[in-house]
Amino acid sequence: MKRLGKGGREMATGSYRIAVVPGDGIGPEVVREGLKVLEAACQAEGVRYEAVTFDLGGDRYLRTGETLPDSVLDEFRTFDAIYFGAIGHPDVPPGVLERGILLKLRFALDLFVNLRPVKLYPGVTAPLRDKTPDDIDFVVVRENTEDVYALEGTAFRQGTPEEVTLQPAIYTRRGTERILRFAFELAVKRARERNKPAKVTLVDKANVMTVGHGLWRRVFAEVAQEFPQVETEALYVDAAAMEFVLHPERFQVVVTTNLFGDILTDLGAAIQGGIGIAPSGNIHPNKVSMFEPVHGSAPTIAGQGLACPLAAILTAALMMEHLGETRVAQRIEAAVAQALATGQIPSLEAGKMGLRTNEVGDLVASFAAS
Ligand code: IPM
Ligand code: MN
Repeated sequence: MKRLGKGGREMATGSYRIAVVPGDGIGPEVVREGLKVLEAACQAEGVRYEAVTFDLGGDRYLRTGETLPDSVLDEFRTFDAIYFGAIGHPDVPPGVLERGILLKLRFALDLFVNLRPVKLYPGVTAPLRDKTPDDIDFVVVRENTEDVYALEGTAFRQGTPEEVTLQPAIYTRRGTERILRFAFELAVKRARERNKPAKVTLVDKANVMTVGHGLWRRVFAEVAQEFPQVETEALYVDAAAMEFVLHPERFQVVVTTNLFGDILTDLGAAIQGGIGIAPSGNIHPNKVSMFEPVHGSAPTIAGQGLACPLAAILTAALMMEHLGETRVAQRIEAAVAQALATGQIPSLEAGKMGLRTNEVGDLVASFAAS
């Protein structure tokens, strides 16, 4: 079990229990490679873990009607972390697994941070001409428990010409404040590690969503006062989308609402070379957290060895960083960078990698072990 150190943060213990949810589609094959690399890196650093696999996803739902039973949720709470592949099944209507598994996990475990690094590694062919690894290295802090995700919505007179729907967004002061504070603290930490200026960019639509995002603006100004050393700016989401493409070098830490964070992190994935290399963590700083690649289950390419496992592999690094095992995390990240630098992975697009899913895993694992 994890111990809490100063300030309630987790401290490394060198021994972990990890709940593994391979899930649907390409989930199992990328998780397999992630665990292969994790194993190699942990062995090299003398860190031990026990992985327990859980059967959740579309197949289980179709078989039993269950998504995420509360008993499984309770079991998850006894682990140190959850390592998650992907969910989404062509035979299950949209929303069932997303709400029933992924969002339920985020909400029930109160994983209020969705941490999504956007980093261009040397050797990756990225779509932005003229941008180098030096220009693309920031992190999106996506609020993960509120906004349009938190409520089901209501329909009146459904199916008639007079149909009216309500799909409201909620923002609480407490929820807004804790994500903004997390972003500022992260900006200070990253600046220290990188010898770069500390900067937080707020992304919202306060010119239209004046009430909800007005709250974000006010709390942003309040929290910023506690961090005089951090440079701040606020961008509307439309302008921010443009800036991701035109001037990604202006970003260090981007903090944004749940829905905008969802959209912007697919764009972020694109500018770092593709969804195949984008990791994420669903985090509560002091609770069992869940780590998943940004990509989905990609059922059309599943089981063929075409999927890029780098997102899942880097996700394992995020998980170990969260557990306080910085050396394991750095070893995994360095191994990915070394694998990319070999030039053996010319593209991160599924089917164009030049190597099969397991071969990419083998290559990274060989560097992680040495
Ligand atoms: C993501 C996904 C999810 C989201 C879906 C599957 C509910 O797109 O993690 O980015 O919208 O958060
Ligand atoms: Mn998404």
